[in-house]
Amino acid sequence: MAEDLNIISSTDKKDQYESILPQIEALISGENDLIANLANISAALKEQFNWFWVGFYLVKENELVLGPFQGPVACTRIQKGRGVCGTSWAKSEVLIVPDVELFPGHIACSSASRSEIVLPVYHGKEIIGVLDVDSEYLSHFNNVDEFYLKKIVSLIHA
Ligand code: SME
Repeated sequence: MAEDLNIISSTDKKDQYESILPQIEALISGENDLIANLANISAALKEQFNWFWVGFYLVKENELVLGPFQGPVACTRIQKGRGVCGTSWAKSEVLIVPDVELFPGHIACSSASRSEIVLPVYHGKEIIGVLDVDSEYLSHFNNVDEFYLKKIVSLIHA
């Protein structure tokens, strides 16, 4: 496996995802360890997009526990139905939050985070965690992020 990523400088989201997606696929295809793969996915996304925070929370004993991530330190445990992450898990839905201050119960791990997207990560039909991406800009995420991040989380094999 080549360990160097090709990071493109385009500011077009679609171009950035099209470039990083096959590289993530290659990075994780030969590895079965979940944590190793989640760590590399977080690192690859952080390098390409330089988002404020990107990482995973994993379902453990009916709560979400902080997993591999890139960015500032974050809250370690989130209850089901709490915050954006716990709500995405409880509803089994992708959540795009354009302004976190307007999301009831949003958990502010950092006051610098302004918008957020959270996607459930599945193993079969079971949710094993969530992918959480935070931006310091309002309305940073849209259906393009949802489309490609869904593809990325579908590559994850537990
Ligand atoms: N804001 C999230 C908590 C996780 S951190 O942003 C990394 C939430 O409301 O679930």
